[in-house]
Amino acid sequence: MPPLWKKLRKNPFAAAVSSAEAPAKISVRGLDKSFEEKQVLTNIDLDIERGESMAIVGRSGEGKSVLIKCILGLLTPDRGEILIDGHSLDSDEGDALRASIGIVFQGGALFDSMNVWQNVAFRLLQQGTAKRKAKQRALQCLNAVELPAKTAELDPSELSGGMRKRVAIARTMASDPDILFFDEPTSGLDPITTDLINELIVNCTKSLGATAVTITHDMSSVYKTADRAALLFDGRLVWQGSKRAMAGSKDAHVRQFVQGKAQGPMTRNSPQENNTHASNTQASNTQARQGAENYDSASENRKTS
Ligand SMILES: Nc1ncnc2c1ncn2[C@@H]1O[C@H](COP(=O)(O)OP(=O)(O)OP(=O)(O)O)[C@@H](O)[C@H]1O
Ligand SMILES: [Mg+2]
Repeated sequence: MPPLWKKLRKNPFAAAVSSAEAPAKISVRGLDKSFEEKQVLTNIDLDIERGESMAIVGRSGEGKSVLIKCILGLLTPDRGEILIDGHSLDSDEGDALRASIGIVFQGGALFDSMNVWQNVAFRLLQQGTAKRKAKQRALQCLNAVELPAKTAELDPSELSGGMRKRVAIARTMASDPDILFFDEPTSGLDPITTDLINELIVNCTKSLGATAVTITHDMSSVYKTADRAALLFDGRLVWQGSKRAMAGSKDAHVRQFVQGKAQGPMTRNSPQENNTHASNTQASNTQARQGAENYDSASENRKTS
């Protein structure tokens, strides 16, 4: 039986603007963010088009989560402009825009005091949807992420890591989002479960007709889920381009990240600490690189900001 993600309804908010006249779905201009003395993001420019799937990659601590928290309005930038569908979250359209966004947080962030279906239906119940209807929608979304109906009554503590990720994705889908953010959706999962979750991300995003932004260290996730990728280093987006361009890129930062090498421009000033990280990412990225070797680099679009 085909999964129910094929039957999920597209958010009507997406249809409000025809693609011919639409601004970028997400537009970031000149974004700076610091915490006290620490400058985390510097002059970030990023456009994500309607229906596009964008991966934001970079080493741990580079500011990937801070960037999406700024886009989501959870953190206030020091400088710069962030527009969604051409509007700021602070504008009159802010509430409608917020309602059109779904987030799968790093780690899943399920509520331990609720069972699985209540977690999935959380936003609907908050909005006043009748319990029976909300549960029905939760079961539909659990089916969409290929979890059996009996999972609905389990507590989060009874789930494996892969099941938690699926429930978190189902929860995000339940309110028909127009934009999906995934923060490290496959971290801590085995390679096969990682691939299954990546497939779910692709299928669910397409079925909703949504725009997707995925933060990841894992190149196999980039190759599987993204149309384009942007590399964050030293607070700046040092490269943006198609995943094909990334796989074949001659850019030294991209090559170091894709190949998971200890030596390179991203570890020049801190070799001791970074050797550990680089060797950890090397194993997972080697396999992904092999699968990507067929990609060409014709559409590379190098950007420095
Ligand atoms: N609320 C905060 N207050 C102070 N510093 C913060 C805050 N949030 C993030 N930071 C700092 O900003 C930097 C970037 O953090 P962020 O969580 O965005 O990294 P990341 O790229 O998502 O890393 P990871 O891949 O490990 O999730 C880190 O140095 C972190 O300590
Ligand atoms: Mg993070």
